[in-house]
Amino acid sequence: MQFVKNVKRSHYCGELTNAQSGQEVILMGWADGRRDHGGLVFIDLRDREGLVQVVIDPNLETCKTAKNVRNEYVIALKGIVRTRPEGMHNKNLKTGEIEVEATHFEILSEAETPPFQVDDAKVQENLRLKYRYLDLRSLRQQKYLKLRHECMQLVRKTLSDSGFWEVETPILYKSTPEGARDYLVPSRVHPGNFYALPQSPQTLKQLLMISGFDKYFQIARCFRDEDLRADRQPEFTQIDLEMSFVDQDDVMALNEKLCRTIWKEFKGVDIGQIPVMAYDEAMNRFGSDRPDLRIPWELKDLNLELNNCGFKVFDDVIARGDCIKSLAVPGIGDYSRSQFDKLTAVAKQMGAKGLVWIKKGQDGSLQSPVSKFFTEDKLQRLFEFSGGSDGGAVLIVADTFQVTCSALGHLRSQLAQELNTIDTSCDKFLWVTDFPLLDFSPEEGRWVAVHHPFTAPQDEYLHILDKKEESNYSTIKAKAYDLVCNGNEIAGGSIRIHRQSVQQTIFQALGFNEEEVQRKFGFFNEALSYGTPPHGGIAWGVDRLVMILCGTDAIRDVIAFPKTTKAYDLMAESPGIVDREQLLELGIRLTNSAKE
Ligand code: AMO
Ligand code: AMP
Repeated sequence: MQFVKNVKRSHYCGELTNAQSGQEVILMGWADGRRDHGGLVFIDLRDREGLVQVVIDPNLETCKTAKNVRNEYVIALKGIVRTRPEGMHNKNLKTGEIEVEATHFEILSEAETPPFQVDDAKVQENLRLKYRYLDLRSLRQQKYLKLRHECMQLVRKTLSDSGFWEVETPILYKSTPEGARDYLVPSRVHPGNFYALPQSPQTLKQLLMISGFDKYFQIARCFRDEDLRADRQPEFTQIDLEMSFVDQDDVMALNEKLCRTIWKEFKGVDIGQIPVMAYDEAMNRFGSDRPDLRIPWELKDLNLELNNCGFKVFDDVIARGDCIKSLAVPGIGDYSRSQFDKLTAVAKQMGAKGLVWIKKGQDGSLQSPVSKFFTEDKLQRLFEFSGGSDGGAVLIVADTFQVTCSALGHLRSQLAQELNTIDTSCDKFLWVTDFPLLDFSPEEGRWVAVHHPFTAPQDEYLHILDKKEESNYSTIKAKAYDLVCNGNEIAGGSIRIHRQSVQQTIFQALGFNEEEVQRKFGFFNEALSYGTPPHGGIAWGVDRLVMILCGTDAIRDVIAFPKTTKAYDLMAESPGIVDREQLLELGIRLTNSAKE
């Protein structure tokens, strides 16, 4: 008997409520679990909307195959929805007030014993990624990807309603510098030539502005060959947008509105007005250009307090014109020496040469590895000036501004997480503006763009570039802005250079020679000369955005088929080797080291 031949599913499992009590329903889904009890078979039937308990009497002729069911078998059944008796409700289940009594039952597909129970969150991630299609069956994963889908629909509608047109741009393209390595694709038709996958559609969206589209957006896939972390994937998605005849405030206002719409819809909260902070202030106060404002602790400047203090390390740093800062951390006054050694190691990883700590026990006594260099009074003053409290400690780093800030900034977020002091019940947003335009890269021996080479300098600094005053390049501020949420950079953008002469000056400042500019950006440079409107835009990191909305801390959770931190797809076993013929066709020969 194949009852399923002539019928269609009537409901999703997870949708059923008391409202259907007494109704006949037809369900299709996966067996999530099976229990036998008093001659009856109980199956939790699962589909993308949730689970429902089904009761089957295998003695019924129309239900006898229920005896054979095992986990992950695919099933169709017809049955009656019944309200569960008082006291038998399952509060952990959305459909816990009802169950379905099967009248017809059919196995549509059998399943091997799965390598793990699909909703078991404790399974090792590598196994989950290898069998991603099973992992994705879990209601947790279905919920994440549903939210991602809904978020994208909302973004599309909101931007379209605001006059943006969605335009697709090529994936087989040319190097688009965003600071990472390119993924290259060899061309068979043009042997020895390569496409680059776009690190972002940056130049393309600017060309669309030159073409007069005025407002563009795209849910764009970007590719970057860079060192991966928890919040980075080699391919990721941006909400990429660009607008003509706008200034920084216009772009920020539009995106703040988009952000407000998203949070209202998915979190049910009004995020209010997003505060704005200049890069310098963010670094000075929080040691980061994407500070997590849920953490109340701030860095304090100790240069004045420690002038001529007698401790050589500090005196030398001040003499060099560098920077000493402190961070007061409550609740770690009882840390042992080895615990502070671990914090010192963290500071050293960020480039610091050491870490001075002063800890204060509940009895008010101070301890520090540098106490012999300071009077008790002085230590006390430093502790208080830094905002230290009884039972807490003050951490001090002395180095260049960058190293000092980033070492303490890093400790700030790491300790706040370890000590579980972050209030995760609300999201804290911040616009960071006035970024430096250029940064000197000692490895490359040249200036590099902090954002990208198309970002406009603020007008009052143009003369430094015009006069090529390299010693002042680090002071030039950009018309760039980042949107930060809970310490994550969720969007970043800028007003662009729209005058060709300024773009040329920047390319020169970045150390590109004429030939390089021509080869890499010739077409773009030429386009700038044919009437370019002032324009600017931004790109949101969709994966990071959805990660925050879902309340998870791994970007992989919100990507259907993510790669590992080694940029490897464990399921498809990619990247992999290819046939020799394929390489020959492309004119590629592997070096010995690549063959190993
Ligand atoms: P940017 O490089 O700042 O700017 O990228 C914009 C946003 O994309 C996200 N993002 C990533 N997400 C996941 N994995 C990665 N590897 C990754 N890299 C970046 C971040 C970031 O804020 N073209 C410019 C935008 C512009 O100027 O309009 C750009 O790509 O959330
Ligand atoms: P030393 O005199 O090198 O043993 O250092 C004494 C203390 O100062 C140790 O706790 C070091 O970790 C710390 N220290 C050394 N250099 C620095 C620095 N640049 N900034 C902060 N602390 C430092």
